Amino acid sequence: MSAIRLDNVEKTFSVGDGELHALGPVSFSIEPGERLAIVGPSGCGKSTLLRIIAGLEEASAGTVTVDGRAVTGPLAGAGIVFQRDLLLDWRSIIDNVMLPTEFRRNAGSGSRTRARALLDELGVGEFAERSPWELSGGMRQRVAIARALMCRPAMLLLDEPFSALDALTRDQMNVVLQRVQTAEKVTTLLITHSIQEAVFLSDRVLVMSSRPGRILDEIEVPFPQPRRLAVREDPAFAEIARRIRLHFERTGVLVE
Ligand SMILES: Nc1ncnc2c1ncn2[C@@H]1O[C@H](COP(=O)(O)OP(=O)(O)O)[C@@H](O)[C@H]1O
Ligand SMILES: [Mg+2]
Repeated sequence: MSAIRLDNVEKTFSVGDGELHALGPVSFSIEPGERLAIVGPSGCGKSTLLRIIAGLEEASAGTVTVDGRAVTGPLAGAGIVFQRDLLLDWRSIIDNVMLPTEFRRNAGSGSRTRARALLDELGVGEFAERSPWELSGGMRQRVAIARALMCRPAMLLLDEPFSALDALTRDQMNVVLQRVQTAEKVTTLLITHSIQEAVFLSDRVLVMSSRPGRILDEIEVPFPQPRRLAVREDPAFAEIARRIRLHFERTGVLVE
């Protein structure tokens, strides 16, 4: 059974006295343990798609199922990371990571140990007792990932988590994310507008059209994991990136 399955999902927003067709129809599925990346131009409906999967937004048409069950409200079993880290400045780093346990019964006394282990795995263990405002953007985003993984979610939903970071920090975050994904064996949906990031971090890439976002192409990424950043210089990697870029050139999203 697929971990996530979408059938002809569409979204239309009411704006003023008109309607805005933001997304779809889109159909695809994600298998348990798979790492899927979706790459698409700004405004094509990527965040809307992720919010629908997470149960934070209702589809106007079509169905979404997670582990075979229809999504009807916010998913308890999903860890979500947004572009903005949404850390609470008045809480220590470790208390931010522990936050999701406070909404659950039976959180267990092991949770502080778990939070520490995740912070260590993400390379920010030394900041556990510090405050979010003392950390750089990349360090804060590591904490946001730890928080999303805290309750051992069945899936991780990432909405352009590194878009606000500089290029070097972003590269570093790609390596860090890949490491923690392997350790946690979590099914992942990564939304990004970076072609390189999509290919580096996934087993499969879906390419989306401009609004209303539809799936233009689906590409398997064959490189074994974990990958080194140098894989990006492999001709086969460059060929996949080129294939994605051509879709954007053909549809006028990228113009040279
Ligand atoms: N709540 C909303 N009401 C009206 N329009 C919206 C709403 N949310 C998103 N949109 C519009 O839907 C389109 C897709 O938005 P979004 O999913 O955020 O795109 P992306 O994440 O790919 O940049 C955009 O044109 C956006 O302005
Ligand atoms: Mg978005």
